[in-house]
Amino acid sequence: MVGTIPREIGNLKNLERLQLGINNFGGPIPPAVFNISTLLIIDFTSNRLSSHLPSSLGLWLPNLEKLYIGENQCTGPFPMSISNASQLTDLDISTNYISGSIPENLGNLRNLKWLNLAGNNLTSSRMSFLSSLTNCRDLESLFFDGNPLIGGKLPGLVGNLSGSLVVFSAFACNIRGSIPGEIGNLSHLINIQLGRNKLTGRIPATIRALKELQSASLMENKLEGFIPTELCHLNNLANLDLTSNKLSGSIHACLGNLISLRNLLLGSNMFSSSIPSTLTRLTDLLILNLSSNSLSGPLPNDIGKWKVLTSMDLANNIFSSNIPTGVADLRDLAQFFLSNNRLTGFIPESIGDMLSLEFLDLSRNNLSGEIPKSLEKLSHLRYFNVSFNRLQGEIPKGGSFGNYSIESFMGNEALCGAPQLHVPRCKSKPLKNSKARTKLIIYVALSIACTLLVATLIFIILRSKKRKDKLPSQEDVLPLGSWRRISYHELHQATDRFSETRLLGNGSYDFVYQGILSDGMTFAVKVFKLESEGALKSFDVECEVLRNTRHRNLVKIISSCSNDLDFKALVLEFMPNGSLDKWFYSNNHSFDILQRVNIMIDVAYALEYLHHGNSTPIVHCDLKPSNVLLDENMVAHLSDFGIAKLLCNDDSMIQTMTMATVGYMAPEYGNEGIVSTKGDVYSFGILMMEIITRKKPTDEMFGGERSLKGWVKESISSPLNQVVDIDLLSNVGRECSAAKDCALSILQVGLECSTELPDERIDMKEVVTKLKKIKAKLLKDTERVRQRGRF
Ligand SMILES: *[C@@H]1O[C@H](CO)[C@@H](O)[C@H](O)[C@H]1NC(C)=O
Ligand SMILES: *[C@@H]1O[C@H](CO)[C@@H](O)[C@H](O)[C@H]1NC(C)=O
Ligand SMILES: *[C@@H]1O[C@H](CO)[C@@H](O)[C@H](O)[C@H]1NC(C)=O
Ligand SMILES: *[C@@H]1O[C@H](CO)[C@@H](O)[C@H](O)[C@H]1NC(C)=O
Ligand SMILES: *[C@@H]1O[C@H](CO)[C@@H](O)[C@H](O)[C@H]1NC(C)=O
Ligand SMILES: *[C@@H]1O[C@H](CO)[C@@H](O)[C@H](O)[C@H]1NC(C)=O
Ligand SMILES: *[C@@H]1O[C@H](CO)[C@@H](O)[C@H](O)[C@H]1NC(C)=O
Repeated sequence: MVGTIPREIGNLKNLERLQLGINNFGGPIPPAVFNISTLLIIDFTSNRLSSHLPSSLGLWLPNLEKLYIGENQCTGPFPMSISNASQLTDLDISTNYISGSIPENLGNLRNLKWLNLAGNNLTSSRMSFLSSLTNCRDLESLFFDGNPLIGGKLPGLVGNLSGSLVVFSAFACNIRGSIPGEIGNLSHLINIQLGRNKLTGRIPATIRALKELQSASLMENKLEGFIPTELCHLNNLANLDLTSNKLSGSIHACLGNLISLRNLLLGSNMFSSSIPSTLTRLTDLLILNLSSNSLSGPLPNDIGKWKVLTSMDLANNIFSSNIPTGVADLRDLAQFFLSNNRLTGFIPESIGDMLSLEFLDLSRNNLSGEIPKSLEKLSHLRYFNVSFNRLQGEIPKGGSFGNYSIESFMGNEALCGAPQLHVPRCKSKPLKNSKARTKLIIYVALSIACTLLVATLIFIILRSKKRKDKLPSQEDVLPLGSWRRISYHELHQATDRFSETRLLGNGSYDFVYQGILSDGMTFAVKVFKLESEGALKSFDVECEVLRNTRHRNLVKIISSCSNDLDFKALVLEFMPNGSLDKWFYSNNHSFDILQRVNIMIDVAYALEYLHHGNSTPIVHCDLKPSNVLLDENMVAHLSDFGIAKLLCNDDSMIQTMTMATVGYMAPEYGNEGIVSTKGDVYSFGILMMEIITRKKPTDEMFGGERSLKGWVKESISSPLNQVVDIDLLSNVGRECSAAKDCALSILQVGLECSTELPDERIDMKEVVTKLKKIKAKLLKDTERVRQRGRF
């Protein structure tokens, strides 16, 4: 809505709620509004209203509970009379041009829970308003960020603020002095923001008491000394930002206890240890920034454990040794900055597996060898820099390499390549003469022959040995590859003799039990019902698939156990959170939008890998929520390959008779038995719709002409968007609209996946890309909403 708010609105004498937020109203707020004594709520948030707040604001509003004027262009002083609106619980004047001092009688508002003064031009001598606020015993959230005129020291009195306080936010307020130890009294604090001030001294040890703290920013201050080890007790801490201070000493090993950490930002300080080996325990870390310190030693060898990391900045330190090959497991990493260190050795070939990489800066190190050609695979790479190393050989030409200039390669020993890069042309290096070539061929042929001979011998020996002890014993175990050996006897004990109390699932081909070995290792064991038709084949297929695959979103096989006659079992990784199906439809669990997106991305990665990551594409054929399992970190793993199909080299499809699950099955599969990767894409589309709508395709509301897909397609264009699971829309305002946007984008992708004609469906690579974009937008939108408190 646009225009001005009509003055006559003051005539609505019995009005209780006046909610005009998030519109485009300009001009002044008619003063008469503040004379409607029946009002409970006034909401003008986010318009273009510009007026002085009337000096009598609050005098005639004895019932008012909520006043929201944030994000407008209001000017003038903050009226003292506000304290007469004694029923106020929420007061938000953030992001205006309100000036003058903060009234010192705000403490009269005894019911106040939410006070947001951020982003104005307010003053307060020695922060005296805080002492008044100690009277508000229900205060939960206090924001006064971005009022550059507040200044002064943070008084010890902050410890006397309400025990219910969860947010204390004073970003960029010119605060000086040290952080008072009394801050530790605020034991329910979840979020403390003191960044961009002029704080000095140490971080007080009393923060140990802030057990519920999830987010702490002290960035851009002048804090010094060590990080207190007491900080390691904050088990709920997800964001820690200490960037740009003068902190020194080591990065304590105990930081590895903070397993809730998602963002750890310690850049631009004077830390001087190595990275403690415990730090890779932080397996949920999304952003790690240790740049511009004096950190030394090697990068962690198990760096791949940071498996969901999206950004890692270790630039400008003195790290040495090699880049670990384990970086290949950092599948979500988009930004990787290692420049200006003392790294040596080769650039590992495996960086080519970091498929999300967008920025890669390895400049100013001591790296040698060639730039691996595998980097051409990085289709999202936009920035690449290996300047000032000791690299040689040919600069790759494929992939994004056509886009880089000499700025990315300068200062190396002997790189060669395309003339526009101003490097020497590469000389081709043919073998010197044909004699040498013949020699080489002989060597190669000889070594192949030897290997074959040895392999054949081993095979024959094994075969004859097996014939000898023909009688199959229960202990007969066939360990495959490097799987752990677990005997039937061990299985028997670990599952309490296949006791019913250990039963996790009962499928048509198998029972699944939970097992615990004497060393505490927990696993799931799938015992095939060999008496049922098809079970044997199911075992073989599942073995075959799991033997040949390895991916973080596939259930891992630990061992298989089998005697030739009557017992076949697969020992699998145990997934403590059970199946998506169970989790999703049990009443005491609710997923937020981000969790749902993450699960979809996990499953999409698994399918992308099955379809495109092997020389033989694998079709799962039975994708549905009960085959998606959740580990302790809620990372999804695809399981149950009992009816999967391996498409041999050139077959893009095969015909078969195995039945999948109604509702998720692609039409061409159901009707003609045609199996192709496109069928999985269809099922994935349905799965996405289910995750957003929380309606099964087999729900009783569908049937006959109506299907989940049809229903989504119909409703997606209606403004009500009634399809989306209401749990997702339980937030208010913009957080809700971010969730809604995201949900609708996903439904669109779901529809593109499940078109009737297989040829019109997109493939899993595209799906992954789309979902990642959707997630990035969601994160950006919600981040923006969260930051709104600041200014
Ligand atoms: C609001 O009410 C007060 C007291 O009743 C009166 O003095 C004032 O003029 C009124 N303001 C408006 C804009 O009606
Ligand atoms: C406003 O509050 C002050 C102080 O509590 C009181 O003296 C005054 O009478 C109140 N004004 C009105 C109009 O209620
Ligand atoms: C804030 O107040 C100061 C002094 O009172 C004034 O100079 C400045 O222009 C104000 N800033 C804004 C954004 O209103
Ligand atoms: C603040 O609380 C402390 C105890 O935590 C108490 O000794 C002190 O008197 C209180 N100060 C005020 C101004 O209430
Ligand atoms: C890491 O922190 C530094 C400040 O210390 C900042 O300049 C840099 O941009 C950050 N890196 C990333 C990837 O955001
Ligand atoms: C090269 O850059 C252009 C423009 O930034 C971009 O559109 C294109 O996708 C890039 N090419 C590759 C292969 O990355
Ligand atoms: C690569 O890094 C070097 C040294 O840090 C820098 O001078 C150069 O500008 C960078 N190249 C690009 C393309 O940014």
